[in-house]
Amino acid sequence: MELYWAWVCAATLATCYVLRRLNGWYYDVKLRKKQYPLPPGDMGWPLIGNLIPFYKDFSSGRPNSFINNLLLKYGEGGIYKTHLFGNPSIIVCEPEICMRVLTDDVNFRVGYPTTIKELIRLKHISRAEHKQYRRLVNTLPILDHQALATLYLERIENIVTNSLEELSSMKHPVELLKEMKKVTFKVFIHILMGSSIHHMIIENMDTSFAELTNGILSAPINAPGFVFHKALKARKKLAKILQSVVDERRLRSKNGQEGKDKVFLDNLLEAKDENGRKRDDEYIVDVLIAQLFAGHETSATALMWTILYLTQHPHILEKAKKEQEEIMKARVSSQGRLNLQEIKQMVYLSQVIDETLRCANIVFTTFREAISDVNINGYVIPNGWRVLVWARAVHMNPKYYPNPEEFNPSRWDDYHGKAGTFLPFGAGSRLCPGKDLAKLEISVFLHYFLLNYKLERINAECPITFLPILKPVDNCLAKVIKVS
Ligand code: HEM
Repeated sequence: MELYWAWVCAATLATCYVLRRLNGWYYDVKLRKKQYPLPPGDMGWPLIGNLIPFYKDFSSGRPNSFINNLLLKYGEGGIYKTHLFGNPSIIVCEPEICMRVLTDDVNFRVGYPTTIKELIRLKHISRAEHKQYRRLVNTLPILDHQALATLYLERIENIVTNSLEELSSMKHPVELLKEMKKVTFKVFIHILMGSSIHHMIIENMDTSFAELTNGILSAPINAPGFVFHKALKARKKLAKILQSVVDERRLRSKNGQEGKDKVFLDNLLEAKDENGRKRDDEYIVDVLIAQLFAGHETSATALMWTILYLTQHPHILEKAKKEQEEIMKARVSSQGRLNLQEIKQMVYLSQVIDETLRCANIVFTTFREAISDVNINGYVIPNGWRVLVWARAVHMNPKYYPNPEEFNPSRWDDYHGKAGTFLPFGAGSRLCPGKDLAKLEISVFLHYFLLNYKLERINAECPITFLPILKPVDNCLAKVIKVS
């Protein structure tokens, strides 16, 4: 009997071993004729690859372990094979290699996982499509500071000051992240679609967006009860709401009511494809969803983390507050509002925001796909494989940021990091076009917050989750208190 159980155990172990190695062997055999070997690494289990350790590390509050384990096992080369989000993939996490991938549009294109592809339906996978899309995005006057300040500063200030007043008048604690999403959503809706969008539409879209975001890095299973299924339903709802906005805007322009306030949606309605044909409504709605997704959730999360980090580090908060008080002291009495010059004087605040982006890693990886075999540092990235440019690992590498876990805005004093060491907004031709807008929104909010308010968290020790985006599990339940 004992011998029988010994055999059962041995057979089970052997089966597990073979299954565990099967994925790696499969790709080794398949790619044996390539000129260069695959980078070191581990392809995980058949079908699911390394999803389990990834989810385990990210949901248990140790997101750096995932890469640190690769470094420990396979050396510090910064290029590793893996299998993640349904695809054989190469993780890159050394600045030079990250930059090589992000700036090479000939050999790489965007390569998002199925969930992102279906939920965001990006229209700019190929180089030609991307050029057209980027031309469209460039019609948004958000790429230079002067245009941003002239067109949107006043509006952003109004949204921010109203929001802070409202939050501080609430009797009950609020979920700060949700409230910050409302702020960035209102700003972005105004920029994309104008100020005439009804309050109820904004509320409805906001809820659907939260559900859509939950599905971004979920298991791609479209069946009732699964997060991805719920996210797809939310997307449908969003598309319906946005279609009604498109219809209304088209009617306005048909009736000559467009007026002076031409917005991004008007440019979209006029946009043509490469054959000179106007874009259909499906395209327009997809682009609006992609823009809203790219712009509001990221900025809101960055805003919440900046407030949170400041609140957790009172000496840093004091220094940032002092800078704002100095700016106010220097202001002439006839000037009632913030201006661009004052924003430019917020040097320390800008460092606080950069440090937040480094520590919070809101977009922890960007996704590319190799469109030919590419040789990097003597390893092959095979045609069709995904490349994960793991910015989080660069930002948390003590080689580039000593004591990386410490929140220390002063590390940016006279900082001259080499290319590829700071990638919160990506790099290359897909560098985030909203980076200045995001920083402007955050700066305006913090200006008023630091001067007049403080935050009191309800659960200061609340655990943090890293998926789908870094946040306290309670969405930062807190009271916003007016102090002046
Ligand atoms: C703190 C806030 C933000 C962060 C951390 C962030 C991060 C990023 C990153 C990392 C990328 C590169 C993606 C890639 O290479 O595949 C990107 C692209 C993009 N972002 Fe942002 N973003 C932020 C705010 C915004 C805002 C406010 C907008 C509004 C216009 C925006 C619009 C976009 C668009 C349209 C792209 C795609 C660009 C392209 O493919 O050419 N983002 N963002």
